[in-house]
Amino acid sequence: MCGIVGYVGKRDSLDFLMSGLRRLEYRGYDSAGVALHDKAQVYKCRSVGRIADLATALEKQPGIAGTLGIGHTRWATHGPATEPNAHPHVGGDNLVTLVHNGVIENFQILKEELIAKGYHFQSDTDSEVIAHLIAEGLKNSSPSETDRYAHYLAAVQQAVAKLRGTYGLAILFKDEPELLIAARFGSPLVIGVGRGEHFVASDASPLAGHTDRIVYLADHQIAMLTPDSMTVTHREQGRVRLDVQPLEVGEDQVSLEGFDHYMLKEIYEQPEALKNAIRGRLDEENATAIFGGLNLTPQQLRSVNRIILTGCGTSWHSALVGEYLLEEFARIPVEVEYASELRYRNPPLESDTIVFGITQSGETADTLAALREMKRKGHRTLALCNVVGSSIAQNADGGVYLHAGPEIGVASTKAYTSQCIVLALLTLYFGRLRHLSFEAGKQMIEEIKRVPAAVQEALSCDQQIRQVAAKYQSATNFLYLGRQYNFPTALEGALKLKEISYIHAEGYPAAEMKHGPIALVDEHTPSVFIIPRGTVYDKVMSNMEEVHARGGPIIAITSHDDNRITEIAEDVIRIPEVPEFLQPIVSVVPLQLLSYHVALARGCDVDKPRNLAKSVTVE
Ligand code: F6R
Repeated sequence: MCGIVGYVGKRDSLDFLMSGLRRLEYRGYDSAGVALHDKAQVYKCRSVGRIADLATALEKQPGIAGTLGIGHTRWATHGPATEPNAHPHVGGDNLVTLVHNGVIENFQILKEELIAKGYHFQSDTDSEVIAHLIAEGLKNSSPSETDRYAHYLAAVQQAVAKLRGTYGLAILFKDEPELLIAARFGSPLVIGVGRGEHFVASDASPLAGHTDRIVYLADHQIAMLTPDSMTVTHREQGRVRLDVQPLEVGEDQVSLEGFDHYMLKEIYEQPEALKNAIRGRLDEENATAIFGGLNLTPQQLRSVNRIILTGCGTSWHSALVGEYLLEEFARIPVEVEYASELRYRNPPLESDTIVFGITQSGETADTLAALREMKRKGHRTLALCNVVGSSIAQNADGGVYLHAGPEIGVASTKAYTSQCIVLALLTLYFGRLRHLSFEAGKQMIEEIKRVPAAVQEALSCDQQIRQVAAKYQSATNFLYLGRQYNFPTALEGALKLKEISYIHAEGYPAAEMKHGPIALVDEHTPSVFIIPRGTVYDKVMSNMEEVHARGGPIIAITSHDDNRITEIAEDVIRIPEVPEFLQPIVSVVPLQLLSYHVALARGCDVDKPRNLAKSVTVE
C-alpha cells in the first residue's frame, strides 16, 4: 500500500522516478508526487489521481530536474485523496522532504506536540508528522566536523524512535543535494546498487533494467545513500554489513509484453509459474518433495501434531485447498484461520503446532501480525510467499518461495495457483515423512508434473468465456458453487468477480446452497457450477438440477462429457481432467478469465480496481 521510490546519482532522476512509480502503481493509485533536488533547490510536483495525472502535472512545470529525487504513489489511509495529502511532505521550513509508506498509529499525539512547538501542518496525513519530527531532530543535534552526514542520521534516528506503527521512508534534505536516507520498519524497502548511483524502491520491480544488485533493508535499519557510498545502521546493532544480492526480476517480467492487462498476462503465465514452483522440488528417487528452507529437521516435522494455515483473501482460499490436501494425504489435522482473526484470538494450541503464513506479497499486515503473535507463543512460523526478501519472508522461521515472478495485477491469479501447487508439494513431503507409501508418492509426482500442461489446455477456453461474459455482463448477482476441493475454487471465483467487476457474487459449498442462498436463484442470477469428474460429481449434479428447476441460468465448468449437463446448463466450459486433489489449480482458470472478461465488458479498470491496492499493509 503506497509505493515509494528514490534516486541519488549523477543522472537526472525524473525518468527513474516516473518509470518506478508506474511499476509500483499497483500498490496504490489515488494520488502521486515527486520531489527533486537540483543542487540549488527542491522542486515538488503532486497530483490527485494516477501516475498519468502526475505526468500531466509535470508537463505544466517544465524544467523540473535533479540528480536527487523521491516519489510516491498513494493509497489513502489518513485524509482523503487531495493534493495537500499527496506525498512528498515537507517539514521544518522545507528543510526536510520525504515520502512514506506505512501507518503511524500515534501520529495524533505527536502532531499535537509539534503544533505546540510551533510547527504548521499542511495535510491531514500521519506522514507529515515524520517530516516535522526529523526537522526537530536536526534542531536538536549539532553537525559533526568529522562526519558531515552524522547529523542527519541522528535526526532520523531520533524521529523514528518516537514512531509507533510502520514506515518505509525516503528522505532528502534541502542543504544536502547528494544525500538520500531510507529507513524501514514494517514496510518494505529495497536499495539498488548502481555505478555512481543508488536507487530506493518499495519492491524490486522498479529496479529491473537499472541495476542487477540489490540490498533488502531490514526492520530498524537506516540506509545513508550518496552517489558513491552506502552505509546501513541498525537501531541496536550499529553499522551493519551489507548483504548485496542479485536482482532476480527481469524487465520482461514487469512489462505487459503485448498483453492488454497485467491480469491477463499473469493468467497466461500460469503454466510457466507452475513449472517454476515445481522445478527442483521433486525427488523422484524417494518419491517425495524437497524443501530447502523450512529450517526444520525431518524429526521435528514428524512430531508436528497440527498445522495452522493462515492468510487473507485469495491466499486464505489456497489455505483451504491446503487443508483438504494435508488432511487427506499427510493425515495431519489442519486449521485455516483468517490472519486478521488469528492475530487477536487465543486458541489453545499445543507446542507441536506449526503455523504457515500464506501470502503473495509477504507484506500483508494481518498475516505478518498473526505470524508474529504465533511466534511469540512459541510456535514455529513458516512463510509460503512469493516476494523474495519481503517482511513476512524475513520474519518467519523458514519457508518456501513460490517463484511465480512479480504479480502486478491487483487480482491475484498466478500466485494462487502457485500457492496451491506448493501446498500439494508440501503435502507430498509431509505425507512421505508419515503415512504415504512410496507408490502413492510416485503417483502424486507423476500427476503434479502434468499440471502445467493441463493449465495450458484450460486456457484455450478464453474465447468461449469472452462470449459467456458478454451474455452476463449486466447481471447484478452471481453464485459460485462447488464441493470438496472445488469449494475453495467457488470462493475464489466469486472473489475474483467481485473485486474487479463490482458485481456481487457468493461462493458456497454447492450443497449448502439449499440452506439459504437458493432464495437468490432466479432467471437473472447466473450460477457457476464447478463440476469436474470426481467423487462428488453426482451430488453436485443434483445441486445443479435444483438450480435449474428454479429457472436459474447455469454456467458449468466440467471435465466430463455428460449430456445432462449440456441439457440443463446454458454454457458448458470444458477443462482437462486431473485428479481431484489438483483440480483447484485447473478449474480456477476459466473463473479467472470469466471475471477478467466481465470486468472488461463493463468498462472496469481490471488491473487497478476501485478502493483496492495490491499489498494491504494496514490493519
Ligand atoms: C484478491 C487478492 C487479495 C489478496 C490478499 C492477501 O485477488 O489479491 O485478496 O489475496 O490481500 O494478499 P497476500 O497474498 O499478498 O498476503
